[in-house]
Amino acid sequence: MYFIANWKMFGGLNSLNSLHKVIKFFKTFKKNRFAKIIYCPPSTLIRPMTKKLKLTSIEVGAQNCHEQESYGAFTGSINPSMLKSVGAKYVIIGHSENRAAGETNKIINLKIKTALKSNLSIIFCIGETLNEKRKKITKKILTKQIQLGLSKIRDKKKIIIAYEPVWSIGTGLIPKSNELSEIINFIKKKNRNSKILYGGSVNSKNISELKSINNIDGFLIGGASQDPKKFIDIIKKTYN
Ligand code: 13P
Repeated sequence: MYFIANWKMFGGLNSLNSLHKVIKFFKTFKKNRFAKIIYCPPSTLIRPMTKKLKLTSIEVGAQNCHEQESYGAFTGSINPSMLKSVGAKYVIIGHSENRAAGETNKIINLKIKTALKSNLSIIFCIGETLNEKRKKITKKILTKQIQLGLSKIRDKKKIIIAYEPVWSIGTGLIPKSNELSEIINFIKKKNRNSKILYGGSVNSKNISELKSINNIDGFLIGGASQDPKKFIDIIKKTYN
């Protein structure tokens, strides 16, 4: 199971102190060989975080990247090979917060292709808005996001798909078990070689319900991942 911490735009150098608890827990956790922890902090923390995690099995990823492979005049942007050079092994692409800010399926596809060239693994986010859910077009939206986002990408082994319904992010709401199970299976059928994660308001209370859903390969965790106690609790309860 994957436990991916998306810190979003939270955290300074002092936030790295919170990793000690997680490192200590994970070292002695009896089921640690079944779990993969990946931290995706703000880019400013990638390098210091990889140093902190050097002697552990915990890995580091970035939260976004530019679609161009080479350097260029793109103020504020970072390309995948730059992320790689500071220790990132993964990159989140297509997060709904970036889609909402104008990132299109086409740009997402370019970003994924470039990141794969730089040998990063991809955490590819898809998900429907509340309005799309109400219109009952969730599957249509997910199909389009996958088709366009992964267009002309043959080898999907390095692609982890994270299903994050937009309406569940940061709201405390999660999909009903039967609905989530149906959607995870729907995505899995079309992407047999990819791991499928769930993201959106995952916490230590709802994890018992979420972990029992068939075919879920892990979780992409926002808010709760910033608190080491909550994050550890989620991992522990997944294996209870
Ligand atoms: P929350 O867990 O805070 O709802 O965020 C989910 C998310 O967006 C992870 O990428």
